[in-house]
Amino acid sequence: MTYSNLKIAIDGPASSGKSTVAKLLAEEFNLVYVDTGAMYRSLTYAALETETPVDDEEKLIELLDQIEITFERVLEGQLVYLNNQEVTDKIRGNNVTNNVSVVSSFGKIREELVNQQREIAKDSGVVMDGRDIGTVVLPEADVKIFLVASVDERAQRRHLENIEKGFDSNLEKIKEEIQARDEFDSNRKISPLKQAKDAVLLDTTSLSIAEVVKECKKIVKTAMK
Ligand code: DC
Repeated sequence: MTYSNLKIAIDGPASSGKSTVAKLLAEEFNLVYVDTGAMYRSLTYAALETETPVDDEEKLIELLDQIEITFERVLEGQLVYLNNQEVTDKIRGNNVTNNVSVVSSFGKIREELVNQQREIAKDSGVVMDGRDIGTVVLPEADVKIFLVASVDERAQRRHLENIEKGFDSNLEKIKEEIQARDEFDSNRKISPLKQAKDAVLLDTTSLSIAEVVKECKKIVKTAMK
């Protein structure tokens, strides 16, 4: 097994640091980074733009048939495209964040997006982050990491991110939304957020990004021995 074909699965609740760490690990090991949350977010964005009801599974499936979600690796990270239109920042807006849990709870939607995710991982080494990567999408992944952090810490991180992006932000409201999203994502019937039995648990609450990446590199190197 070479690093070029490595499959790394990173799961965890909202704002636990998954995407930041996954991007840096992908760079370090020269792997493709796949942000599966961005796929659910892009579909949610498309639904809001086209006034497709976010609780109508059949209509959402029709919409998913008509859209193409792609990624482009750039120096600063990764860009997300919806039918060739760049939506990287748009899919992080509050309206998408507050509707994406419902969209991602539908079985047919998950089935289709999981297929697309597996297709990307078929021919290349990947770092894939999400909620069900280690349990459902890539159960045979070489490395599985489950990142957690306290609600206060995660809310603070998202608050700072929002401010950086120029979005309105209210810390207390974010805390409530994160708790609600955790609850929904962990208790949905299909592929709930759950630590895989063979995943390594890493609590990032009091760690810097550099420290988390260092720990993750250790986990990868141990798994590769
Ligand atoms: O990681 P994120 O906040 O961008 O994810 C957005 C939403 O998508 C999150 O509320 C749960 C859902 N999601 C999912 O159900 N499965 C995944 N593999 C990734 C995200």
